[in-house]
Amino acid sequence: MTTDLLINIDHVATLRNARKETLPDPVDAAAAAEAAGADGIVFHLREDRRHITERDVRLLKQAVRTKLDFELSTDPDVVRICCEVQPDLATLVPERREEVTTEGGLDVIARQERLRDVVAQLRQAGVKEVALFIDPVCNEIDAAGKTGADCIELHTGDFANAKNAKERERCIEDLARAAEHAHAAGLVVHAGHGLGYRNYATFRAAVPHVREVSIGFAVMARAMLVGMKQAVREMRDLVKS
Ligand code: PXP
Repeated sequence: MTTDLLINIDHVATLRNARKETLPDPVDAAAAAEAAGADGIVFHLREDRRHITERDVRLLKQAVRTKLDFELSTDPDVVRICCEVQPDLATLVPERREEVTTEGGLDVIARQERLRDVVAQLRQAGVKEVALFIDPVCNEIDAAGKTGADCIELHTGDFANAKNAKERERCIEDLARAAEHAHAAGLVVHAGHGLGYRNYATFRAAVPHVREVSIGFAVMARAMLVGMKQAVREMRDLVKS
């Protein structure tokens, strides 16, 4: 199976907002990433609007020619915007205001009812696919299947942040088992968080059935030094090799 590379452009908006400027524009970044071969563009409209804004969302919807993935919490206001925008994919994530970035997967078991309602609302509004961002745990995958979601996005952050080889090995085993379990249950498997140029080959060799990866920070950090097109091309070469 070939894996699609979706590029998250939130950090372009973070840089713009740091100086309350209009540049760099995440819409330009999305176009450059697409021109370099990205299979899709991802953004997260956070409740506190710390990076991507509603203006960005509306323009990205018009500008993006590949796949558009809208990451969101179950906050009713953001769900409403997502329903209006009708992205190709909506990925539900947990959100805490004090976190620097998304820190873990959804607690699907505890929030099954609310998640089921939001998945139904998004589907009814015309969103083509809905994914739940979850930790690589089989019980959570089973619960995700019961919400009506089409896909799960496996949280790869623990693998990316593993302190040593033993911990990394355990994380990669968990991811591989979870991907098998989700695939067998008929769920499409996505993955993301902390994936980059150094750890991608290890991830790819061990984890089957991954249809899409969502990568932001590593590519944006590299783009600062070599430009967006080269940074995306290098990551695309890794993902497609
Ligand atoms: N997937 C999800 C659900 C995320 O919240 C993030 C971070 O915005 C990513 C993927 C991308 O993570 P990173 O920026 O570490 O590549």
